[in-house]
Amino acid sequence: MTISLVDQAHNNITNYLSEGNIAVDATMGNGFDTLFLAKQIGEFGKVYSFDLQASALQTTEQRLNKEQLVQRVCLIQDDHSQLSDYLTKDGVHSIRCAMFNLGYLPGSDKSIQTGALSTIKALNSVITVLETPGIISILAYTGHDGGREETEAIKAWAHTLSKTDYRVSIQVPKLTKNSPPELILIETIEQELPA
Ligand SMILES: C[S@@+](CC[C@H](N)C(=O)[O-])C[C@H]1O[C@@H](n2cnc3c(N)ncnc32)[C@H](O)[C@@H]1O
Repeated sequence: MTISLVDQAHNNITNYLSEGNIAVDATMGNGFDTLFLAKQIGEFGKVYSFDLQASALQTTEQRLNKEQLVQRVCLIQDDHSQLSDYLTKDGVHSIRCAMFNLGYLPGSDKSIQTGALSTIKALNSVITVLETPGIISILAYTGHDGGREETEAIKAWAHTLSKTDYRVSIQVPKLTKNSPPELILIETIEQELPA
């Protein structure tokens, strides 16, 4: 049985998140990832979720309300490149996890899609506050206009990270189409204390 890259992202993140953690969903969309994160971080954690579109916030709020989890989430209508302002304003200086599920909202305006400049600005913001252990998950799509460029820019950025501090892995589905999505995972490496 093959599992989707979304499920693979969730499975990897589950190993990192526990009650009381802070997580970021940089691309809220229809709220599936935000709901997943809200369940993981428990009553005393917080999820900061961003999207440019008001409709994304409405759909996500409804989804969270159904499960009575809306109080665990800050729903923010803004560009994720601004996310450090929101974290700083709330006194948040460390996070356990950040999720990026890039591209556009299915069934919505395809011109509102993520792009390399703002995505990399957001990645720079989250990596400076990422805890050890901690994980950033980026699900990147390559089949739409600009998608391949964004994916390559992110991989180039990831390869500039210190190899002693971060482990970067990239998963591509095996039964591959012409332009398969790619799951890029960045995990902090715990440093061994000198003996
Ligand atoms: C593929 S969807 C996300 C799916 C979502 N994680 C879910 O669980 O349904 C991508 C979303 O990114 C949003 N987006 C695009 N550019 C953005 C930006 N610069 N800042 C924040 N959100 C952005 C789009 O509006 C869209 O809703």
